[in-house]
Formats: sequence, C-alpha cells, structure tokens
Amino acid sequence: MPRIGIEFNNVCNLDCAHCFRSIYRGGAENNKDLFLPLDVLEKILIEAKPLGYAHVAITGGEPPMHPRFGEALDIIAEHGYSYHFLTNARNFQKTLKAVSAQPLRRAKLAGISFSLDGATEATHDKIRGKGSYREVVTAIAMCQALGIEASIITTINKANRHEIDQLALLGAHLKVKRQIFGHQNPTEHNLGADLILPLSEWRAVERDVARVMTGFRHDISMAVGFYTDYYLPRCAPLTHDDLNIDYRGRLTLCCQLSNYRDGDKDGEDVVGDLKKESLAVALGKLMNLVNKVHRERLAMAADPRQKEKLHYPCLVCIERFGKTSGEPMLVQMTGAERRRDRETER
Ligand SMILES: C[S@@+](CC[C@H](N)C(=O)[O-])C[C@H]1O[C@@H](n2cnc3c(N)ncnc32)[C@H](O)[C@@H]1O
Ligand code: SF4
Ligand code: SF4
Repeated sequence: MPRIGIEFNNVCNLDCAHCFRSIYRGGAENNKDLFLPLDVLEKILIEAKPLGYAHVAITGGEPPMHPRFGEALDIIAEHGYSYHFLTNARNFQKTLKAVSAQPLRRAKLAGISFSLDGATEATHDKIRGKGSYREVVTAIAMCQALGIEASIITTINKANRHEIDQLALLGAHLKVKRQIFGHQNPTEHNLGADLILPLSEWRAVERDVARVMTGFRHDISMAVGFYTDYYLPRCAPLTHDDLNIDYRGRLTLCCQLSNYRDGDKDGEDVVGDLKKESLAVALGKLMNLVNKVHRERLAMAADPRQKEKLHYPCLVCIERFGKTSGEPMLVQMTGAERRRDRETER
C-alpha cells in the first residue's frame, strides 16, 4: 500500500546509541521549528489524496512528543487516511490517552510499531537507556489488551546480533502482528560505539532472520538494505510507494537518509519545500532524482571497482548523498574493523 511517511518532529526523550538522526534534545518550548506545523500537514494530505495515497506512516523524533499530537491525528483521520506510528514507548499511558480521545482518531489507527533492540532488558537498555525495555514490553501488552495491532522493529547490531531467535520468540509471546529486522545503518557515532557489525557478517544475520521467518505464526521480515543481486533497487522510496516528509515539511528521498546524524548540511535527497511549493511540483523533482540514482547505479554496475558495493543499496545511498562528514562510510567501516582486529591481535 503506498504510504506517506511523515516526521512529526525532531525531538526525542531518549538518546539511543545507534540512532541515525541528528536529534535535538533540549527543551521544546523555544524550538517550535522542530515540530511539523499542522497547516503544512493538512496541505500535504489534501495534495496527496488525488494521487491515491491513503495511509500515513508517522515517525520522528519521537512522534507523541509533538505538542499537538492528538490534533495532528485528527487531521489525518478527517482527511480519510489510516495511520500508524513508530514509538520508543516512553510515557505510553499518555500516548494511549491521546489516540483514544476521539472515536475517529482511534478508528483510523491501523497499529503502533515499537522499536525493540534486544530480547533482554540488559541488551535493549544498553542501546536505548535504562528502563526502556520494560516500557516497550508493557506498552505492547497494553495494546494487546486494547485490541491495537502492535508490531516490532529491531535494528541488528553487535550488541543484539546473538538474540535474533530470542527476539522472534519474544515477538510470538507478545502476540505481535509483524516483526521487522533491519541492518543498522552506520553513522560515525554508532561506529565509535562499536555497534556496527562487519559487512562480512551481514549475510549471516540475514540467514538467521530467514530461518526464524518460517518458524513462527506472526509475520517476520527483513527491512530493505539487505544483500541483493538486483543492482537497480526497487525499494519503496525509489518507486514512490513511500514518500518521506521531514519535520520541516520538505519532501525528501528516504526516511533512512533524513536529517542524518553525521551530515552537517542538507543533501540532494531534500527535493522540495512543501510549505512553498505543491506536492506535485516537488514529486516531479523527486522523479528526476530517482532517475538519476538509477542511471548512476547502471554506471556503477559496469565498473568492476564499484560493482560490489551495489549489493547493499542503502550503504550506497549513504555514500552517494554525502551523509558522512569525513571519509566515505564504507571506507570508515573497513578502517574501524581493521583497527579492532589489530587491537585484538596485540
Ligand atoms: C529514528 S526512529 C523514530 C521513531 C522512534 N523514536 C523510535 O525509536 O521508534 C525510527 C526507527 O529508526 C531506527 N533507527 C535508528 N537508528 C538507526 C540506524 N542507525 N540504522 C537503522 N535503523 C535505525 C530506530 O531504531 C527506529 O526503529
Ligand atoms: S531511535 Fe528513536 S528513540 Fe532512539 S534516539 Fe532515535 S529517535 Fe529517539
Ligand atoms: S537508503 Fe536508498 S536504497 Fe535504501 S531504502 Fe532509502 S532510497 Fe532505497
């Protein structure tokens, strides 16, 4: 189903070690530009409707921290869209109150996705902070009791790689509808925290996820970014099945590249400002960019020195859109591994 991904804000109440966003963590009161204005949200929804979009995927930041979270959900629901949102589950009682406050708001809620980054409290809290694991597990149980469809998203890294089976078991135990595993995209920060698995281990992770996919009743899948032999990626952003609007109301290529932690300026992935231009005009620019990306990958596929990189399409994007402040990310990943190997040998 084609979806509009919308970042409600750029603030968060956690400081996860792996997070790829450049999140502002100060007080929100004096920083109103960190929250998507609701008139911009409404404009986008009106303009996307005739194109057939009918579902909104809400992300952030931490979406429920938008000071007008409930009103934003009303606008989405009143324009006939269903929605789901992604959350870290902090202050979930308050979030539940917000989604339940209006019947239409509640009726259009398709589900809630929770980020769970460990099968054990120790692993999850190491990445997300003390107390977070209990909050997530309790929140999922609350959804279960209220008939709200819950899903889990896990980002695989060095700290939780050994817990894939346990995570799937936990997903089954919590009776979630869907569970998605994804590779952790590298940032200079999470490389420094030694969380990124060497690229040589990524396929083994994918095999472990593939194994649990068939062993459980709930739907288990791997998020885009896994190894592929298709050199022209068919991910949702590159087919316009997923649009991404950042918290400033700009159309960007992909939520995975948006407001990237290491980037100090906007990349070419930010294509249009929907406060100033129509979605149709901005989409025209996005189509040109998508075409350009495919042409570049075609050229890379013909270049023996570049070709191998294409197996991991998101890593190519991180490099292509300049999401690092220093050396290209693949060079940094290899360098970090070599340094660690040398240290272990000593
Ligand atoms: C940026 S968060 C926003 C929503 C909310 N704050 C949360 O954590 O669920 C969206 C998703 O991106 C994931 N994420 C963060 N950093 C990532 C990285 N480096 N690579 C892949 N996914 C990442 C998070 O774990 C979360 O599931
Ligand atoms: S992953 Fe989500 S909860 Fe964690 S810091 Fe990033 S935005 Fe906040
Ligand atoms: S980072 Fe690039 S390849 Fe990955 S999902 Fe986004 S647009 Fe597609």
